[in-house]
Amino acid sequence: MDTTEELHGFVCDVARRAGELQLSRHEDPGEVREKAPKDFVTEVDLLCERLMVDAIRERYPDDAILSEEQGGSVSETGRTWLLDPVDGTANFMKANPMFCACVSVIEDGTVTHAAVAAPRLGDLYHARLGNGAYRETGGACSPLRVSGTETLEYCVVGADLSLYGGRTQEPGVEEVLFGAWQLRALGSAGIRGAWIAAGYLDVSVGTQNTVWDYAPTVLLVSEAGGRATDLSGEPWSLSSEGLIATNAALHQEILQVLNRT
Ligand code: IPD
Ligand code: CA
Ligand code: CA
Repeated sequence: MDTTEELHGFVCDVARRAGELQLSRHEDPGEVREKAPKDFVTEVDLLCERLMVDAIRERYPDDAILSEEQGGSVSETGRTWLLDPVDGTANFMKANPMFCACVSVIEDGTVTHAAVAAPRLGDLYHARLGNGAYRETGGACSPLRVSGTETLEYCVVGADLSLYGGRTQEPGVEEVLFGAWQLRALGSAGIRGAWIAAGYLDVSVGTQNTVWDYAPTVLLVSEAGGRATDLSGEPWSLSSEGLIATNAALHQEILQVLNRT
């Protein structure tokens, strides 16, 4: 039986290997299919998923896997792997460098391990429950720490505004965005979450993402000294509809603004 450290090394390795595959194809996404309106899957998404799933099945055959393209299930009693083979597919299709591979492990509803490999940035962000969050880049490993920003007025907020079917943001989200200093829409929920942990962004607002997008943010941000909850301030769970991740100092203010309309 592997130790949690060995398991963590493997989590990082799976993300890293998918990232390497992405990098080798970053200007060649292959066949692209519109699986739902304005929701695309490329040949590279499928290849990365195959690589990740095969590696996990070989090493941990009893674990459950839930992955974006092939689906799957969450184990009631054991470990589940949440996989986003290419997060930021819309960027990847355009050879925009903001894409990553996301791997998380959950057990009993708690995210215990997470890794986000962003190969065009040269970064691997990872966290293990109770053991901190880190960035590996160019062979060096450094701890991640959230920002020290104290008020919304001076916040750099990360949020992806999908312009789907003319939908506007919910009123509370608009209040947060317009109350902030600056907005970044990166096109990758995985990188957005890692950048809260790294202190590059102060707040992340997610309302349209899925569990494989949110899970890495939950662990990376909390292990880097921040807070991640659902939109009403309750602990995030697999059935939560959204995720607010902050540097902790800002969390109450963001929740108040978000929920006052
Ligand atoms: C998407 C990205 C994007 C977010 C979308 C996600 P995908 O993931 O994270 O930033 O706005 O909601 O679906 O589809 O590229 O894995
Ligand atoms: Ca995603
Ligand atoms: Ca994806």
